Amino acid sequence: MPIPDSLWQEIERISAGYPFRQGAVLPVLHRVQAEQGYLAEETLSELAEYLRMPQVDLFEIATFYTLLHTAEQGQNIILACNNISCYLLEAESVLATIEDELKIKPGETSADKKFSLQAVSCLGACDRGPVMLINDKLYTHLTPEKVRRILSRY
Ligand code: FES
Repeated sequence: MPIPDSLWQEIERISAGYPFRQGAVLPVLHRVQAEQGYLAEETLSELAEYLRMPQVDLFEIATFYTLLHTAEQGQNIILACNNISCYLLEAESVLATIEDELKIKPGETSADKKFSLQAVSCLGACDRGPVMLINDKLYTHLTPEKVRRILSRY
């Protein structure tokens, strides 16, 4: 989707705080995503030109970071940790429960567009695993029962 003039003004304000436009790449991507929900290919193309960088480089950045999305997301984004510390605490059954409850796999969005699911490497709460983040809320010490209860509240 095209970037509106009001958002371009903000992008210019953000990038003015950096000696080179490329330095503003992450704050600019976050700001645009906050406004548009995700970073569409067309949007990345416009931004690549503005940031004076190859589109492929910008696409790599947008797909590298867990918190950046290049496809439309559900209303709630679930990040479920499946790294070693959580894995040893039964993260596998937690992820399986989420998949089962929502009928989606990591990288997918539910048919009603209510949830998107991603399996991630670490959420920085290894001592409280297994964990998942739903939007900005961290849930810890998860069990399949706890996951079902939490999901039913959304
Ligand atoms: Fe799961 Fe770090 S390994 S939060």
